[in-house]
Amino acid sequence: MSGFYRGRRLRRTTEIRELVRETEIRPKDLIQPYFVVETEDKNFACEVPSMPGQYQLSIPKLLDKIGQAVDNGLKSLILFGIPAHKDETGSQAYAENGIIQQAVKAIKDKYPQLVVITDVCLCEYTSHGHCGLIKDRYVQNDPTLKLLGQTALSHVRAGADMVAPSDMMDGRIQAIRAILDENGYTEIPIMSYAVKYASSFYGPFRDAAGSAPQFGDRRSYQMDPANSVEAMREAQADIDEGADIIMVKPALPYLDIVRKIRDNFFVPVAAYQVSGEYSLIKAAAAQNWVDEKGIVMESLISIKRAGADLILSYFTEQVLKWIK
Ligand code: PBG
Repeated sequence: MSGFYRGRRLRRTTEIRELVRETEIRPKDLIQPYFVVETEDKNFACEVPSMPGQYQLSIPKLLDKIGQAVDNGLKSLILFGIPAHKDETGSQAYAENGIIQQAVKAIKDKYPQLVVITDVCLCEYTSHGHCGLIKDRYVQNDPTLKLLGQTALSHVRAGADMVAPSDMMDGRIQAIRAILDENGYTEIPIMSYAVKYASSFYGPFRDAAGSAPQFGDRRSYQMDPANSVEAMREAQADIDEGADIIMVKPALPYLDIVRKIRDNFFVPVAAYQVSGEYSLIKAAAAQNWVDEKGIVMESLISIKRAGADLILSYFTEQVLKWIK
């Protein structure tokens, strides 16, 4: 026996490498986000300038897009709505016939097997762009909870399979669980954006969803990127309140947090590869500075290897084609 480790023995051929590969991206791991717009124009499709390849779509256009993705193996999606009207209290977020509620019905009618997840938040629906009610320029926690509960309930009544609150108000998981249970929806899971950082990586999303705050920022409710002990506290609280899946967001700059959550809690862990992560790769690939497929697959593998069971990614549709 030679005196040193010959790691190359298991790297010699593609087939051997595949035999010992530890991490794999499968269609069932991936969740594609979509932006749906409330508009009279049935053919509305507008590419998001800062997110090449991602679109704001009318419901009929969205159904077409989903149809193609389903043919490529799409299993699950998350929806963000862009309402025709915004107001101080974000009332279109919980309107019975709001854009998300209509979109969910249309998608579930056509693709009943798809797992349809809805983002529960007010920021796309409020005129001020914050995720809760405002008083004296401060986001009010407890009065917001009721509206988040109503929003989640309206999504589930429309047919959503899962709700994903992203607002970062304290106590929202408890509030949402309670209203769902009272209305007989004990079987609908909550995927909590439990560990959501106040991140500059959300910039392109705010263009896509028209949800940039009109004053101030989100640091009084989203987490400080410097903190990891606090991430554990947030995850613990949301699990105690009834969260079924815990999400970490953004993904790649926070892989240490993904791993820590995976090791410490016995729930599925999701990671959100957010808009800024997408746009950086797209921009560099457009210049031919990096190989897009290579960078995307390596990023997703890293997120899984760090411990994510599920990945929300704008690259989902593309990856489904690559791994088909
Ligand atoms: C809504 C919400 C945001 C994202 C998901 N849900 C934006 C924000 O908090 O400002 C970001 C997603 C992305 O950047 O891709 N609160």
